[in-house]
Amino acid sequence: MQQEHGDILMTTVSNVRVGVVGLGRLGKRHAQNLAYRVPGASLVAACSPLEDELEWARSALPAPRLYRDYAALLEDREVDAVWLVTPSALHAQQIVDALHAGKHVFCEKPLSLDVAECERVLAEAGRYPHLRVTIGFMRRFDPSYRDAFERIEKGGIGRPFMVRSQTCDKNDPEGFFVRFAPTSGGIFLDCSVHDIDVARWLLGNPRATRVFASGTVALHEGLREFGASRTMAHGNDTGSEVIGTAGSLAIGRIPSLNRVEIADAGGVRTECTPTFFERFEDAFLCEAQAFVAAVQGGAQAGATLADALEATRIGSAMRASLASGQPVVL
Ligand code: NAI
Repeated sequence: MQQEHGDILMTTVSNVRVGVVGLGRLGKRHAQNLAYRVPGASLVAACSPLEDELEWARSALPAPRLYRDYAALLEDREVDAVWLVTPSALHAQQIVDALHAGKHVFCEKPLSLDVAECERVLAEAGRYPHLRVTIGFMRRFDPSYRDAFERIEKGGIGRPFMVRSQTCDKNDPEGFFVRFAPTSGGIFLDCSVHDIDVARWLLGNPRATRVFASGTVALHEGLREFGASRTMAHGNDTGSEVIGTAGSLAIGRIPSLNRVEIADAGGVRTECTPTFFERFEDAFLCEAQAFVAAVQGGAQAGATLADALEATRIGSAMRASLASGQPVVL
């Protein structure tokens, strides 16, 4: 069905048939949300080059068609939208291929590790205005971040002029992050890219003009070539603070898992969110629901390709600044 949005004819579907691509750490979660928790979506296909991930799909998902090869999934005419949860360096080309195949695209962050690649995707997407494309900056859908955004929009803290934001994972003694780092793009494009997006979003999308970054490797020597690490001893400690002319807002200042306070001989404490899965479970679900609603003809929700390009542009400048020790003018 085609539906008019301004002067653009959107291709809309009532039941969105989704093919998820990448069934790793995060892909499994997206797949389960899409299969069981997103009204209006049917998970009809899944793709992974790894047999153990396909085996997981056979047992955990409601019998989607399984593909080892992304090109084969794109040929499936009964897939309306692809859900890319693949290594970040693959995103740009996979988005372009999906658009050429006539599919709507949800793609995990970052859009690309390379600014020129981001620009290429924007140019290609411009040729397919009837297809939805969004990048999974899910923090925009977290209920607390959403509440803060709406308060700022209503003028609750006056004019917001500063954001402090951090994305930190619990230290992983198994060294998962060290193994993940070569394909992740490093801390700025993998983790801080969320903070960059949040800062732009909460400040009303100002244009970044100058970037300076510093960092240290506190624990994992294997991260030395990437220049910075993201270690926290106590858990996933992710939060932001927005300061405005008439007040400030803090989101997640105390990263408690829940509302239980434990008092014992060791003192008074709460447990910390162990990983981003617990912290952002609602956000991942709400972003999936919003994208499906957009494909059904609703408004674009979440980060656009232009937002994602900007996040990669700033994250890349931070990486360059860390390497050179000098500010980078954008
Ligand atoms: P992962 O390494 O666990 O999973 C990657 C998956 O991609 C695997 O299933 C692998 O088999 C598959 N894959 C590799 N090459 C492929 C190809 N050519 N075609 C199809 N599938 C292929 O990685 P993880 O942690 O799940 O991350 C995936 C993406 O999700 C990354 O871009 C990452 O930045 C993003 N991510 C986002 C988070 C967020 O907070 N929004 C959190 C974690 C990851």
